[in-house]
Amino acid sequence: SQGGESVLGVAVTHTTTPRPRPTGTKLGFGRYLTDHVLVAEHDAATGWQPARIVPTGSTRAEIASGALQYGLSIFEGLKAFKTDRELRLFRPDAHAKRFAVSAKRLCMPEVPVETFINAVRALVRVDADWCPAQTGGGALYIRPTLYADESFLGVRPAQQHVFSVLLSPVDSYWDGEEHSLKLWAEREFTRAALGGVGSVKTGGNYASSLLAAKRAKERGFDQVLWLDAVKRDFLEEAGTMNVFVRIGDTVITPPLEGTILAGITRDSCLTLLREWGVPVEERPVSLTELGEAAKAGKAIEMWGTGTAAVISPIGEVAWENGSIKSTGFEVAPRLRKAIDGIHSGRDADTHGWIVSV
Ligand code: COI
Repeated sequence: SQGGESVLGVAVTHTTTPRPRPTGTKLGFGRYLTDHVLVAEHDAATGWQPARIVPTGSTRAEIASGALQYGLSIFEGLKAFKTDRELRLFRPDAHAKRFAVSAKRLCMPEVPVETFINAVRALVRVDADWCPAQTGGGALYIRPTLYADESFLGVRPAQQHVFSVLLSPVDSYWDGEEHSLKLWAEREFTRAALGGVGSVKTGGNYASSLLAAKRAKERGFDQVLWLDAVKRDFLEEAGTMNVFVRIGDTVITPPLEGTILAGITRDSCLTLLREWGVPVEERPVSLTELGEAAKAGKAIEMWGTGTAAVISPIGEVAWENGSIKSTGFEVAPRLRKAIDGIHSGRDADTHGWIVSV
């Protein structure tokens, strides 16, 4: 785009057909895309081409690609927030690093951390006026993706890839009224086993979750609680979120041993809890342990964490012949308030988590 506009060193081709703006009061999650996307191509022989920002819908994907045929695709999810003064990102460096870990596991080229952050900042600057106000969880959800785009049907690492970034104005992740979640403890299907790709943010993990989630909904639940693949007793994840429980005064979350995603919100919560002096344990925790604690009359509190859903209280977990209920919510709302406060700038960013766009 010789002589054209460039933002943070990224060439921009502006759309001539702006997309319809959201109407109504609720954005929901992922329904709208902004006017522009960022793309950068990689070829194993020549390396990365410069990133460019182009109109949404002007790019195409290869049908014979490893992405479409074999699931050779990874993604990230982070958010930009609007304050009186600026647009700001939450922990883009942590997302960039996790993206690189995911790429390595699927034999894809690494996007350097600086390239990732610059791409996100450039695109958010171009479509800044799509960012909703923060009321009701409003944010610009940012979806970096890396996918194999070589036309080749053999099963081997691809030689051509595309790094792309999409933006979606969002508010609440969940449909309907705010409520504490009811989860079905899933004992038939599992999400991941040791040695697999459970810790990788790749599409297949979400594809394979759908049937269990659909059945849970048919039973009247919001989502599933994933359990370990061996004993079907230890907690893994709550739908697309990491899971936390409080038993008495102690907060417990499953350890990062390869089957669960290393959530950025999970990590932020652990940091805050330790600063507050709350006893925290990263260790396996089972339905059996929760059931015994409940029977002994101990307080139980359960919640999920994720970028999309932030902090979501879990009111109940049930299975064929049992259930566990949260007895009250104390820590989850405190975490929610603290995270919201850092996002919005109401509270000081003492951890260096905020990066200006
Ligand atoms: C998240 O961003 O929290 C996620 O888990 C992504 C999900 C919406 C697919």
